[in-house]
Amino acid sequence: MSLLLFNSIEMTNKSNLYKNILSDIENILDFSVPTFTNLGNISALLKTHFNWFWVGFYKVEGDYLILNAFQGPVACVKIMKGKGVCGKSWEENKSIVVKNVDLFEGHIACNQAAKSEIVIPIRNKKGEIVYILDVDQDYINAFDEIDKKNLSLINNLIVDII
Ligand code: SME
Repeated sequence: MSLLLFNSIEMTNKSNLYKNILSDIENILDFSVPTFTNLGNISALLKTHFNWFWVGFYKVEGDYLILNAFQGPVACVKIMKGKGVCGKSWEENKSIVVKNVDLFEGHIACNQAAKSEIVIPIRNKKGEIVYILDVDQDYINAFDEIDKKNLSLINNLIVDII
């Protein structure tokens, strides 16, 4: 099989996986419970579905991101605006895909096993960043534009509860 064809099959598979997970997320959301509860379940769904190393949310509080609902090993609890991948995503108001964390200046290694990372800002109805969704994988090159596009869609599902 040609590499091009293989890549395109891979991409279709991944997009389909996302279609399923986004619909699963929609189904488990319960707007009668605290946001933390829903973010915890979203983290759990994502982690088990994709077998990622770490998935979680940081909440914007003042000039810091504070660890919120997550699944995976113990993580840094407080990240200053502009610091690390998460703080940079917040400061620069954009998603960041990091193919190799060793090549990202200022990356914060909460766990040495994490090798690649994707960070997605979560905005409220006013367009303000209120959470950062952070995902780590224990091998390089785990995330791409398909992950970026689809993980960003989670924002639409939770915008009414953040
Ligand atoms: N690596 C992140 C820190 C958070 S952990 O990965 C859970 C960063 O550089 O902002």
